[in-house]
Amino acid sequence: MTQKTEATTDLKSAKSPKTAEDFAKYFQAPSLKDAKKRGKEEVQVHYDFTIPEEMEGIGKGKTYAIRTYGCQMNEHDSETMAGILERMGYAPAEIEENADVILFNTCAIRENAEDKVFGELGHLKRVKRNNPNLILGLCGCMSQEESVVNKVLKSYQHVDLIFGTHNIHRLPVLLRDALYSKEMVVEVWSKEGDIIENMPKVREGNTKAWVNIMYGCDKFCTYCIVPYTRGKERSRRPEDVIAEVRELARQGFKEVTLLGQNVNAYGKDFEDLEYGFGDLLDAIRKIDIPRIRFTTSHPRDFDDHLIEVLAKGGNLVEHIHLPVQSGSTEVLKKMARKYSREHYLELVRKIKAAIPHVVLTTDIIVGFPGETDEQFEDTLSLVEEVGYDSAYTFIYSPREGTPAAAMEDNIPLEVKKQRLYRLNEALAKSGLEKNLAMQGQTVEVLVDGVSKNNDQVLAGRTRGNKLVHFVGDESLIGSYVHVKITDAKTWTLHGEIVSKVEV
Ligand code: 5AD
Ligand code: SF4
Repeated sequence: MTQKTEATTDLKSAKSPKTAEDFAKYFQAPSLKDAKKRGKEEVQVHYDFTIPEEMEGIGKGKTYAIRTYGCQMNEHDSETMAGILERMGYAPAEIEENADVILFNTCAIRENAEDKVFGELGHLKRVKRNNPNLILGLCGCMSQEESVVNKVLKSYQHVDLIFGTHNIHRLPVLLRDALYSKEMVVEVWSKEGDIIENMPKVREGNTKAWVNIMYGCDKFCTYCIVPYTRGKERSRRPEDVIAEVRELARQGFKEVTLLGQNVNAYGKDFEDLEYGFGDLLDAIRKIDIPRIRFTTSHPRDFDDHLIEVLAKGGNLVEHIHLPVQSGSTEVLKKMARKYSREHYLELVRKIKAAIPHVVLTTDIIVGFPGETDEQFEDTLSLVEEVGYDSAYTFIYSPREGTPAAAMEDNIPLEVKKQRLYRLNEALAKSGLEKNLAMQGQTVEVLVDGVSKNNDQVLAGRTRGNKLVHFVGDESLIGSYVHVKITDAKTWTLHGEIVSKVEV
């Protein structure tokens, strides 16, 4: 239930500690059990975000750095944190070690993502020793986990501040408290907060922008921690999303990616409005922005109306990231994905029929608890049948508190690795086939920058999100160009520039 209100964000009246004793009380740790509950209370939308006056200049002459791990949602949250910090007077640090504030915006999706953060957090002990005034903060999905907060409290005492994914708007108050406290400041709300509009953002570059359309996830796939770390599904009001995209168009942005954990559930929480993701895209496609993308889709909620709208093309690009996770109906059932192999393949058939040349990409997990050889073969055969352009593939990683973590997992790691290897081989084969079919074609490319490996070469993306390399002048960065594809590799295309496109 998302209701539009003018209620306050409660930034000023928030219970802030004044004394050392207060600080001991000022500690809100997360609980996965509470995060699991889906309350019926109304989600309110707040339009009155402000930085309290006394904190506006707190960062003058100081610098900040943010390290971002994980998905685009996190990247975008970091843009919001940067926006808040810059409103407080902080400037981006040129050298991270010299920064006055360092934030780690973390990802909890797999164990190795967490291990990496703990390792790097450990390295910062030395930085903190050399620069005792540094405020080191941990935020993002890991901070929503009880076990992580306990571990940081016990073994990473050099951390000054932990705040959760629902507490970003509280950054000014929390930062002030961390500045004046000797104790670690922890504020992680397990229950999701409301929707806070109008938070400042510092977007990276002026070509591509991310726009949140919804927060949270109610799908509770049995392996996934996201519904616990990001809370229940809350959709932004259509008029707010549309106004933001319009403003980006006015500022000259060339591509917008709409973000949500499950964009296909957009609008299902509106009480007063029958309005879904298809309706939102139908409105946004009329805005003068050359490319609109979205991520991530859940196959279960991908309806015919949405396919109809996508088939209109225009600025709605023909790329759909459609995570399948497994090609076996039995495994999908254990994952609680709520669709079968047949349903997924039927959806793919409909999408391909409606959107010629559609580029399909996916996410796949191998080694889910109890996955048999036959079930894995089902995944391989599905990959062959769909013909993906590319995919993200993962070995299953148990996440504490999720139902799958309690399932018996008797597949040896070697077998999981072998499956991942075979899956990646199959995907490489279909990726190369798809790319070879593009040889000789002239495609529209949005130029992102110079290639990582060769500064004479530019890198950009097609509408289908394929990476293209070609020789060109740096002045083309941020523009659309036509490139004739001369050579196809498994994951990249190479070509020659034909012309610059005026948009
Ligand atoms: N183990 C492995 N992969 C996972 N993903 C989500 N949770 C897990 C997990 N516990 C993958 C899914 C999802 C992508 C973002 O990460 O494939 O689509
Ligand atoms: Fe996780 Fe499933 Fe939600 Fe995606 S849809 S965020 S995999 S629970």
